[in-house]
Amino acid sequence: MEIKKEDIKFLYSEEELQQKVKEVAAKINARYLDEEVYVICVLKGSVMFTADLVKYLTMPVKMEFIRLSSYGSSTTSSGKVNAVDISLPDLNEKNVLIVEDIIDTGLTAKFLRDFIDNNFRTKKTEFCTLMDKKCFRKTEIEPDYVGFEIDNKFVIGYGLDFDGNYRNLPYIGYVEV
Ligand code: IMP
Ligand code: MG
Repeated sequence: MEIKKEDIKFLYSEEELQQKVKEVAAKINARYLDEEVYVICVLKGSVMFTADLVKYLTMPVKMEFIRLSSYGSSTTSSGKVNAVDISLPDLNEKNVLIVEDIIDTGLTAKFLRDFIDNNFRTKKTEFCTLMDKKCFRKTEIEPDYVGFEIDNKFVIGYGLDFDGNYRNLPYIGYVEV
């Protein structure tokens, strides 16, 4: 399915996004102070959010990147999480902060929580998401840090795609679903 740029409705500007990223970072800074944190960017969607977020973090940070996919068709979750690349260093006794673009059904987050729990005894594992789409939640996952709570919209831009397109938009828009 294809959409035209004119069909994308405006949601959050670059300035609003930066302001929100700073607010979220301030909460994380207050929580961890000078403790080291392993920031895990869940590719591809959270590439922009993670890149901006870490610039405002003040504790020692190590960045890791994993790649998962879950979306089957353009706008509906397949219900299955596919681990494209999930190689991680030893996270035993570490503070782990998983950074997501959006939590929708929560299946991706649940998959990650289980993966981390099954492989490591971390000091702490937390979730940070730019957007939380609670209406479709199918798991008990509650993110620790949330940028925006959104309702039933399919959002695109700032890392989020529609059929692989529009990740590069500097703002967030949406299409009616
Ligand atoms: P979940 O496993 O259903 O929570 O979905 C997580 C993934 O689905 C996110 O990391 C996104 O990549 C994708 N996703 C969910 N909702 C949207 C949306 O509104 N726009 C773009 N991608 C989305
Ligand atoms: Mg994604």
